[in-house]
Amino acid sequence: MRTQVAIVGSGPSGLLLGQLLATIGVETVILERSSREHVLGRVRAGVLEQGTVDLLSEAGAATRLNAEGLQHSGISLAFDGRLHRIDLTMLTGGKHVTVYGQTEVTHDLMDKREAAGLATVYEAANVALHDFDGETPFVTYDKDGVSHRIDCNFIAGCDGYHGVSRKSVPERSIKTFERQYPFGWLGVLAEVPPADHELVYANHERGFALCSMRSTHRSRYYVQCPLDDHVEAWSDDRFWDELRRRLPPQTAAAVTVGPSFEKSIAPLRSFVAEPMRFGRLFLVGDAAHIVPPTGAKGLNLAASDVRYLFAGLREFYRDKSQVGLDAYSGKALARVWKAVRFSWWMTMMLHRFPETGEFGQRIQEAELDYLVHSKAASTALAENYVGLPY
Ligand code: APR
Ligand code: PHB
Repeated sequence: MRTQVAIVGSGPSGLLLGQLLATIGVETVILERSSREHVLGRVRAGVLEQGTVDLLSEAGAATRLNAEGLQHSGISLAFDGRLHRIDLTMLTGGKHVTVYGQTEVTHDLMDKREAAGLATVYEAANVALHDFDGETPFVTYDKDGVSHRIDCNFIAGCDGYHGVSRKSVPERSIKTFERQYPFGWLGVLAEVPPADHELVYANHERGFALCSMRSTHRSRYYVQCPLDDHVEAWSDDRFWDELRRRLPPQTAAAVTVGPSFEKSIAPLRSFVAEPMRFGRLFLVGDAAHIVPPTGAKGLNLAASDVRYLFAGLREFYRDKSQVGLDAYSGKALARVWKAVRFSWWMTMMLHRFPETGEFGQRIQEAELDYLVHSKAASTALAENYVGLPY
């Protein structure tokens, strides 16, 4: 089989790239290790920058997002027993973020791809990347016990942190940067109205907490927990009690409790691989970088990578120019590192670190106090939160 761009992974990166390429008539095949149901079962963050919304519109996958997404013009930081609102829209000259779950983004993109009859191979086993340092790369995989080969012009490695693409690159050609944080986030989804109409990021002596939402009737909450904690140890009652203890009294009183229908613990890490291009292989999204969820940048970074790669591939197919492809890694990484910095900073400012000590504690308190009282500092948070320019 032949295609123009072989895409490994059908998460948001692979699906969005595939949809954009379809708008300019470039053929793709997506190879996905898991089943469609498994991909759609993953729960991830749900805050979209305007640049991400615009790209989904360009891909023709924003109809439901436009109808159901919630526009938020602010967030609150909770500490000292009260909420401190950051007016994102006022501080950024009119910008906002859109709250819409990543699962829904993935669903919309998959529906669009299926309706257009574009090829996706689910449950593709042993995907392997070949000859991407030359002119004629190809990808092999097994499906139902039969081996297949796809010849292509380019390979897009959109297969996440645990994927095969980054691992296919010789170690001497890649440099990685990593920081692990000494805690995780325990997250709960429940069919209850959110405690606040906007997101609340809480710094509390018992640990960080976050009030988020998927809609006006579905809430997503998180509490910081030890890395060796287990979901089985967290009954719904224990979770609701712990969450409310970490919130200011007024917000705690507004929490509607109910049965959870998803509960999971995720570790926090920052990770970047450089460069993001190896000959005719391009790494995109989580395959190249991971950010801790504080600030909700993961999906938005995947979208900005896709935008740069799409622009490069369009130039290649339309104008026979490699200039855009040559610029991909540099442009993508410049934006990636700024979001890595922002997510790291939000994480450092809002969590309890076991090793911090009293000095570190006072520094954190001073930082939060400065942040909410200085327009310059609040503006820096706001412009990063709504998304830096591409
Ligand atoms: N072969 C084929 N597919 C694979 C392989 C493999 N060897 N390894 C992984 N995959 C698939 C995974 O099953 C998954 O569906 O690649 C996909 C990668 O999707 P994501 O992990 O969602 O990564 P990405 O599309 O870059 O999305 C970035 O998702 O993880 C969040 O925080 C992240 O929000 C960000 C966004
Ligand atoms: C979420 O809704 O899951 C979410 C929102 C904001 C974050 C992280 C996660 O910073």
